[in-house]
Formats: sequence, structure tokens, C-alpha cells
Amino acid sequence: MKIKKFLVWIFGSIFLISTTILIAQQIPTECEIIVEGAKMAPVKLSHEKHATEYKIDCKICHHKEEDPTKEVKKCSVCHGLMGGTEKAPDAPKNMLAYHKNCIDCHQKVNTEQGKAAPTKCNECHKK
Ligand code: HEC
Ligand code: HEC
Ligand code: HEC
Ligand code: HEC
Repeated sequence: MKIKKFLVWIFGSIFLISTTILIAQQIPTECEIIVEGAKMAPVKLSHEKHATEYKIDCKICHHKEEDPTKEVKKCSVCHGLMGGTEKAPDAPKNMLAYHKNCIDCHQKVNTEQGKAAPTKCNECHKK
């Protein structure tokens, strides 16, 4: 009985530790958002700063995938360049989704908190 409990504990811990390591490897620090066929220059996002320094909850950008134990997908998996994809036919196109997510928040923090987050085209789409 005791041994069984101990084994459950041991395997439980190994599982927890290994999933934690797996997650830590998955979360990007810097992203260059490259979308195939895009006309504008790729946009850089400091994923780490947004999540850690600016303390933005994962789910604000990642929908319900806020649970980091679940697989987190790239936006472009659903938000295609021209519209939704096979995975999510109802998803608004890439530009609308990103612009709504990124620019809306930047405008908000700039007016409400006096920040200087980028809102002009060439501040994000840097050549
Ligand atoms: C400011 C918005 C924002 C926040 C906050 C954010 N992410 Fe992201 N994350 C993104 C974007 C945008 C991408 C896609 C980058 C790309 O297309 O290359 C991404 C990509 C990822 C990826 C890689 C997906 C892949 O297949 O390449 C993981 C994992 C991830 N985020 C996890 C998280 C977790 C966990 C949190 C919370 C701690 C979080 N993100 C917070 C915007 C955000
Ligand atoms: C699994 C598919 C999927 C992924 C991955 C996904 N989205 Fe979405 N997204 C949708 C669907 C479907 C909708 C439309 C229905 C809704 O609002 O939930 C949507 C709607 C949105 C909207 C609302 C647009 C509006 O006009 O109100 C924003 C903003 C958005 N997504 C941003 C993102 C960002 C940023 C990412 C990546 C960090 C992302 N999405 C990843 C499927 C997805
Ligand atoms: C919920 C709010 C929020 C969202 C969503 C968000 N940002 Fe930001 N962003 C900020 C804040 C806050 C700053 C810091 C501004 C300052 O310090 O003056 C910032 C700064 C930046 C900066 C300049 C400084 C840095 O960290 O590199 C870039 C570039 C940037 N964001 C890109 C993006 C992109 C691209 C997206 C969408 C994928 C995005 N952000 C989504 C809040 C947000
Ligand atoms: C806060 C950052 C940000 C600002 C400001 C911004 N964009 Fe974007 N935009 C993005 C991101 C992120 C994507 C998705 C990644 C990509 O396709 O490059 C995107 C996608 C696009 C796309 C679709 C993909 C393509 O290149 O064909 C177009 C077009 C576009 N933006 C044009 C503009 C124009 C024009 C402006 C100024 C009026 C602007 N953007 C301002 C972040 C921004």
C-alpha cells in the first residue's frame, strides 16, 4: 500500500517536472511574426516583455489557450491572410485579428497610461 502511494507520488512528480520543462521550452522570448505571402515587413514582438514586464495575461492574446499546459497555437493557424482557415472558417483575417489585438491595446495604454507603444505602420512593420 505504502509503496503504491510512493510510486504514484514519484511518477506524478516526474510528470509535473517534465511538462514544466516542456512548457518552458515552448514559450518564445522574441517572435518575428512572419506570414507567408504578406506584403508588409514582418513584425517583431517581444513575447517575453509583453508577458512578463507588461504583465499581459496569455489569454488576452491567445483566446482560451490561456492554460499553458495546453498546446498554444500560432494565430496564423486560424487567421489566414485572406480570411479564416480550414481549422477555423469563421476567424477574421490575419490583419484584422492582429491589428485589433495589438493596435487597440497600444492605443489604450498610450492614452490611459501615457505609454509609448507603437501605433504607426512603420513602427511595427519595420523594413
Ligand atoms: C501580446 C500578446 C501575447 C501575449 C501576452 C502572449 N502571447 Fe504567446 N504569442 C503571441 C503571438 C502573436 C504569437 C505568434 C508568433 C508567431 O506567429 O510567430 C505567440 C506565440 C506563442 C507560442 C508559440 C506558438 C508556436 O507554435 O510557435 C507559445 C507557446 C505562446 N505564445 C505561449 C504564450 C503563453 C504561455 C503566454 C502567457 C504567459 C503568452 N503566450 C502570452 C502573442 C502573445
Ligand atoms: C484555433 C483558432 C484560432 C487561433 C489559434 C487564434 N484565433 Fe483569434 N479568432 C478565432 C475565431 C474563430 C475568431 C472569431 C470568433 C471569436 O471572436 O471568437 C477569432 C477572433 C479574434 C479576434 C476578434 C476580432 C474582432 O473583430 O473582434 C482577435 C482580436 C483575435 N482573434 C486575435 C488572435 C490572436 C492575436 C491570435 C494569436 C495570438 C489568435 N487570435 C489565435 C480563432 C483563432
Ligand atoms: C494588452 C495590451 C497589449 C497587447 C495586446 C499588445 N501590446 Fe505591445 N505593448 C504593450 C505595452 C504596455 C507596451 C509598452 C509601451 C511602453 O512601455 O511605452 C508595448 C510595447 C510594444 C512594442 C515596443 C516595445 C517592445 O516591447 O518591444 C512593440 C514592438 C509591440 N508592443 C508590439 C506588439 C505586437 C506586434 C502586438 C500584437 C501581436 C502587441 N504588441 C500586443 C501592450 C500590448
Ligand atoms: C502594433 C503593431 C502594428 C501596427 C501599428 C500596424 N500593423 Fe499591420 N500587422 C501587424 C501584425 C503583427 C500583422 C501580422 C503579421 C504580418 O502579416 O506581418 C500585421 C499584418 C498586416 C497586413 C496583412 C499582411 C500583409 O503584410 O499583407 C497588412 C496589409 C498590414 N498589417 C498593414 C498595416 C498598415 C497599412 C498599417 C498602418 C496603417 C499597419 N499595418 C500598422 C502589426 C501592426
